[in-house]
Amino acid sequence: MADDWTPPAGDLMKGKRGIVMGVANQNSIAWGIARQLAAQGAEIAFTYQGDSLERRVRPLVESIGMDTMIPADVTDDASMDAAFDAIKAKWGKIDFLVHSIAFAGKDELQGSMVANTTREGFRRAMDISVYSFIDCARRASEIMPDGGAMICMTYLGAERTVPSYNVMGVAKAALEAATRYAARDLGPQGIRVNAISAGAMRTLSLAGIRGGKSLMGTGRDWSLLKEDTRMEGVAGAALYLLSELGHSVAGEVHHVDAGFHVVGVPDLPED
Ligand SMILES: NC(=O)c1ccc[n+]([C@@H]2O[C@H](COP(=O)([O-])OP(=O)(O)OC[C@H]3O[C@@H](n4cnc5c(N)ncnc54)[C@H](O)[C@@H]3O)[C@@H](O)[C@H]2O)c1
Repeated sequence: MADDWTPPAGDLMKGKRGIVMGVANQNSIAWGIARQLAAQGAEIAFTYQGDSLERRVRPLVESIGMDTMIPADVTDDASMDAAFDAIKAKWGKIDFLVHSIAFAGKDELQGSMVANTTREGFRRAMDISVYSFIDCARRASEIMPDGGAMICMTYLGAERTVPSYNVMGVAKAALEAATRYAARDLGPQGIRVNAISAGAMRTLSLAGIRGGKSLMGTGRDWSLLKEDTRMEGVAGAALYLLSELGHSVAGEVHHVDAGFHVVGVPDLPED
């Protein structure tokens, strides 16, 4: 999926350096965004969750001529300290951050939200999917003396109920609120914080949701454009928000979902 498009090349990110967090494989949304930013001249440091992912991520990173890869587990303060120290030591400062990370247990992503959300599952989903963005925003802002831009990834399940999305919908609602508060706090430093709400896309994360494939089908069939959300649209929105094109845009949740989020009732069958 991620490789059936060629990101448009240009200079929109020329001279800009930043961090992309959340590449797990070639289908990851973070990877599509990274390809687009690189094609527009960005220099990127990639963080990845742990050693087991390194083998999969390294060839991707090298394929776009980059080599900065740093392990970072967002649940581990020592790992986060080491990652941001390494980036600071390498570049001194950065211009952008892409946070494309979320997690909830499989048992939570099915059936009833009320019945299946445990205290530990809730804590973990909120820690990895929400607190990590707040933590990264703080750490990244400390190395953005000239201002910059940050994005995180969210989904319609924050605003409306979606079967099986459950505690992740609760976490995404919190992430969207965190985006607005971070935008408020960091705006005076010239740092723009925004979120992209993508339609369902075939990634590892989607595979963890019971009925995830049907979410894609519905997203396509009920959407205004009658098509799947495409990586090029998500990556293009990221480029807009992270480059000077997105000047004056802050605290926004920008939907890239073929218009699915505005549909109240899907097309009715002919009488
Ligand atoms: N796929 C979709 O349909 C869709 C739609 C809207 C939003 N999103 C969001 O996009 C983002 C990226 O997901 P994706 O669909 O590309 O799936 P993905 O599985 O490729 O990416 C999720 C990433 O989170 C990382 N991660 C999980 N726990 C971590 C931890 N403790 N420390 C560091 N990294 C950790 C994983 O390593 C992985 O790289 C997520 O926030 C997801 O909720 C996905």
